[in-house]
Amino acid sequence: MITTVTMNASLDKAYFMKAPIVNGTVMRLDSCRTSAGGKGVNVARIVALCGAKVQATGLTGGFNGQQLEALLDKDGIAHQFGHMEGETRCCINILDQKYGSTEYLEPGCEVSASEEQQFMQRYPDIIRDSDVVTISGSIPRGVKKDIYGRMATIAKAMGKAVILDSSGETLKQGIQSCPTVVKPNRDEIEQLFDIKIHSMQDVIRCAEKIREIGIPYVITSLGKDGALLACEDGIFHGKPPVVEVVNTVGCGDSMVGAFAVALERKLEAEESLRYAVAVATANAMSPNTGDFDPKNLEDLLGRVAVEQI
Ligand SMILES: Nc1ncnc2c1ncn2[C@@H]1O[C@H](COP(=O)(O)OP(=O)(O)OP(=O)(O)O)[C@@H](O)[C@H]1O
Ligand SMILES: [Mg+2]
Repeated sequence: MITTVTMNASLDKAYFMKAPIVNGTVMRLDSCRTSAGGKGVNVARIVALCGAKVQATGLTGGFNGQQLEALLDKDGIAHQFGHMEGETRCCINILDQKYGSTEYLEPGCEVSASEEQQFMQRYPDIIRDSDVVTISGSIPRGVKKDIYGRMATIAKAMGKAVILDSSGETLKQGIQSCPTVVKPNRDEIEQLFDIKIHSMQDVIRCAEKIREIGIPYVITSLGKDGALLACEDGIFHGKPPVVEVVNTVGCGDSMVGAFAVALERKLEAEESLRYAVAVATANAMSPNTGDFDPKNLEDLLGRVAVEQI
């Protein structure tokens, strides 16, 4: 089984508008959709679509939290969330013809030290039956910045593989606990090393620096340029085929979900990268976040080029 951790989950609302937004006026929506959100929740949906067993964990609270869990039930995704006093935040994405996507992200509630502690006490029990634990996204206010590192250390001591996909300070602190995999994107690498990436050689240099800390697999995702995997078996560049791109939000989460499945299935490094790039490409072809049509996968797997550098 794979457990996906989302500490900063959200109730996502997509507002679809036929008319372009006119600021300062009353706008009526054409339609709207509410879904369970947060990066680890996207990962869980992808793992389920890959046909692997999955459960979602993290923190939820209030009526929004209840709704988020009910939406996961509806999607058939198992979950064991810790509960907090505060309300799970809402994130609103307004989609119109003029601006494309405009997102409003609530700051979210503050988590108390005792809520964090209670969750961490339950955490070993929650992940007990999992082979892989994925940890994604930001942390809510009040949670200590080293939490991902502590989660990685506990999971590794229990013999589990850990994938960390975060940014800024939580990524910086998290990598010190040597998760099995980290998946930064270009911006996250630049921020981590305080540099500008100009070439593939720059990406390789940064990946090797992360590997030297003691991290077996470093996947740097590069949007339409695919992803670079640095591991013991070598350095591989996975290149997606040209497809009709509909929505790239959640492509990184898709890559994390697929790589978790590949780790659980014990695929070779090269095949794991091929699988992760194919699933991420399939997500880019879907209008929904953390979603793909499994019918496209076979064809995409054959069209992803993996080159050893
Ligand atoms: N325009 C695109 N065309 C084809 N594949 C894409 C495109 N954008 C992303 N992908 C695929 O998705 C993978 C992850 O994308 P990206 O580097 O944008 O991740 P990310 O920035 O972490 O995304 P997010 O955090 O929104 O999930 C890429 O390595 C690539 O395989
Ligand atoms: Mg990402």
